Amino acid sequence: MKILILGSGGREYSIARAISNEDEKHELFFMPGNGATTDFGVNLDIKDYNELALYAKENKIELTIVGPEAPLVDGVVDIFKSHGLVIFGPSKEAAQLEGSKVYMKNFLAKYNIPTARYIETASIEEAFNFTNKLTAPIVVKADGLCGGKGVIIAQNHNEAKIAISEMLSGKSFGDAGLKVVVEEFLDGYELSMFAVCDGDDYILLPAAQDHKRLLNNDMGPNTGGMGAYAPTPLVDEELYQKVRDRIIRPTLDGMKKEGAPFEGVLFIGIMVVKGEPITLEFNVRFGDPECEILMPLMTSSVSDMFYKASTNRLKEIKVEFSKQFAVGVVMASGDYPYKNSKPAEIILDKVLHTDVEKNSHISFAGVSMIDGILYADGGRVLVCIGVGDSIKEARDRAYLRCGQVHFAGKKLRTDIAYQAL
Ligand code: AMP
Ligand code: GLY
Repeated sequence: MKILILGSGGREYSIARAISNEDEKHELFFMPGNGATTDFGVNLDIKDYNELALYAKENKIELTIVGPEAPLVDGVVDIFKSHGLVIFGPSKEAAQLEGSKVYMKNFLAKYNIPTARYIETASIEEAFNFTNKLTAPIVVKADGLCGGKGVIIAQNHNEAKIAISEMLSGKSFGDAGLKVVVEEFLDGYELSMFAVCDGDDYILLPAAQDHKRLLNNDMGPNTGGMGAYAPTPLVDEELYQKVRDRIIRPTLDGMKKEGAPFEGVLFIGIMVVKGEPITLEFNVRFGDPECEILMPLMTSSVSDMFYKASTNRLKEIKVEFSKQFAVGVVMASGDYPYKNSKPAEIILDKVLHTDVEKNSHISFAGVSMIDGILYADGGRVLVCIGVGDSIKEARDRAYLRCGQVHFAGKKLRTDIAYQAL
């Protein structure tokens, strides 16, 4: 198949890597890709989605896979479908589950899907009144996409009110904050679950845990994610079943009723409170770095799963996973997440240890290639992934791989998967 992948991160690299490892040979294209995706295919530079769809048609691209949320929220899927193309991802309307926290919360409430008690409003008075009814900490969320920064966990009422005022006045997040969600704080442990959906049916992937904070022991600022592991032993069959029955099934049925059947990856941010899964949020794409650890655990064809999901035929296939574990450790540039760092040359030592060579690899993200030299030039530069029969074995291999990677300013957490060890 000729396959086009939209995006430029480690997530998209890992999808390409998994597809390239399949028995069947595929031809891959990226828009825009990164300095390492050229290992697998051709990087394109066609920003306009209509033009890109025309390119896909002319070049007989049979499947397009969308990595990040922005093109989905902008309606790339609708545009590609209007050209008769097969594309994996939700429509613009269904992408509102991530694009608007107000849409998502109202949807959850309408279909009785468990979530934190909340109010959504553009009125400062209403927001303050609701805040007064809650006990601190209090969670304040901007409605629109804010690159993962739109959620404030206020430690007291005053802090919450300042966050609300700054959002509603447009000061902190511009138009994305002109409506807010104020909600109760949930105390528990967090999980990331991913359901690959075709509008009617879905395949639930092994549950993962992300590490959102920059520093060890979950300290420091929030990031896109500094590492992840899967499957997590914190989830048993009973919890999976609760997520299926209480969250995924009613979401797919509800979205159909709304006239926006959900196709693509439903990424469920879950807080487990006293054994019960509560929906924190939905994203409409794979998590990054969660995708990088889930792809190596899939033993059946990844491209076929995406193709069948895009053509409403998931029922026909059985998706299989290895019994192993995967741990991914993000290596970020020196100034992440505050600002861009100066490009730094990446040196990869030859891996001499055959065990590490065989059971670990790198997913490249914020990298560019200039005259055959690879540079770190983005926030999250790459992810070292280890696979093993236990979480500890997978983690040791991931960290051994990290030891072979050098660039000025590199930083990483040294405690990934601590929750499971
Ligand atoms: P979100 O973008 O909604 O996933 O929020 C980002 C992070 O904020 C989540 O991953 C949680 O760690 C935290 N968070 C969001 N909502 C709540 C809540 N109601 N209670 C506790 N933590 C929350
Ligand atoms: N790692 C979390 C995310 O992709 O949003």
